[in-house]
Amino acid sequence: MELREIKGVGPETLRKLLEAGYSTVESVAFASPQDLASDAGIGEATARKIIEQARRMVAGGEGRGGKLVQILPGREAKRILQSIERVTTGLTGLDSVLGGGVETCAITEFYGPARAGKTQLCHQLCVTVQLPKEKGGLEGRALYIDTERTVRYDAIARIAERFGLNMDEACDNVFYTYAVNSEALRETIRELDEVVKQNMVKLVVVDCLTGHFRAEYTGRETLALRQQLINRMIHDLLRLALSYDLAVVVTNQVHAQPDVWGKSEAPTGGHVVAHGVTYRVGLSIKKHNVRVASLVDAPALPPSSAFFAITDRGLVDVSEEEAAKGKLVEE
Ligand SMILES: Nc1ncnc2c1ncn2[C@@H]1O[C@H](COP(=O)(O)OP(=O)(O)OP(=O)(O)O)[C@@H](O)[C@H]1O
Ligand SMILES: [Mg+2]
Repeated sequence: MELREIKGVGPETLRKLLEAGYSTVESVAFASPQDLASDAGIGEATARKIIEQARRMVAGGEGRGGKLVQILPGREAKRILQSIERVTTGLTGLDSVLGGGVETCAITEFYGPARAGKTQLCHQLCVTVQLPKEKGGLEGRALYIDTERTVRYDAIARIAERFGLNMDEACDNVFYTYAVNSEALRETIRELDEVVKQNMVKLVVVDCLTGHFRAEYTGRETLALRQQLINRMIHDLLRLALSYDLAVVVTNQVHAQPDVWGKSEAPTGGHVVAHGVTYRVGLSIKKHNVRVASLVDAPALPPSSAFFAITDRGLVDVSEEEAAKGKLVEE
């Protein structure tokens, strides 16, 4: 399935698409006509036609996400939706809070204050996604977009050892890129198609989604633009998730917000992030190395929470009783 096989794409359009970063049929199929038209500098009517053709092509392919873009009889839709895969977090508690793990073809957000364990959880997922399917993995690779320079390959190696994987291979299977600012982050996300498709990437991590935007767009007058850019970025991530049946995991910071009770902590990004992500999980610090993960928004899942502890070998389950004692949990 190649771009030039899309009906109506001649050499000139092909060049424009490639230049605008649309390198696969999937990337075109899930684009909006407005984005495609303005990115590639083609008319909106042409963009619509190309998208329609690309959608037909992906619907006939193997991917579950690709099948969802056509009108399906209920029974068929149900079958496809039920077959969407999940990645284990390596935590029994958090897996059950999430309805069986982190879902593919979707975006899962983990938000919380500093030290809540967001980055540690992302490290663990980079390993568990590699596990065989019978152990809850997807036998795929991970791609880590780091905005804070906090990724540690020695930590990934220790987690890999715990899950019985070869440490070097497991580290090799985690692609890495550092996005220095919001512009680099947006560009990186827009141009991931090729890498993801060719390397069996089944997990894309963005740690952290909003940090650069918070730092760069400070005044009130820049708020509208900031939200617009974040919105587009989230759409590009969802497009990737659907195009290649992969899981997207993003982390988010919290900020204090006044409310009727005085003050509380809310995830950054407002409605744009709230509506854009599929699953929202809040992480908070209990005591010592014990943390609690709470599902706050998910399609068809009740709110619930689970405890875990941060250890040298990654995150481990903690029972409610152990968490209540608040003692330092050892492996
Ligand atoms: N081996 C370990 N054993 C116990 N605790 C650890 C270990 N390694 C890291 N930690 C703890 O994990 C916490 C850091 O977690 P993490 O980096 O995932 O936080 P975060 O939510 O990503 O924070 P930030 O918002 O600053 O990025 C710290 O409290 C640190 O003490
Ligand atoms: Mg972090």
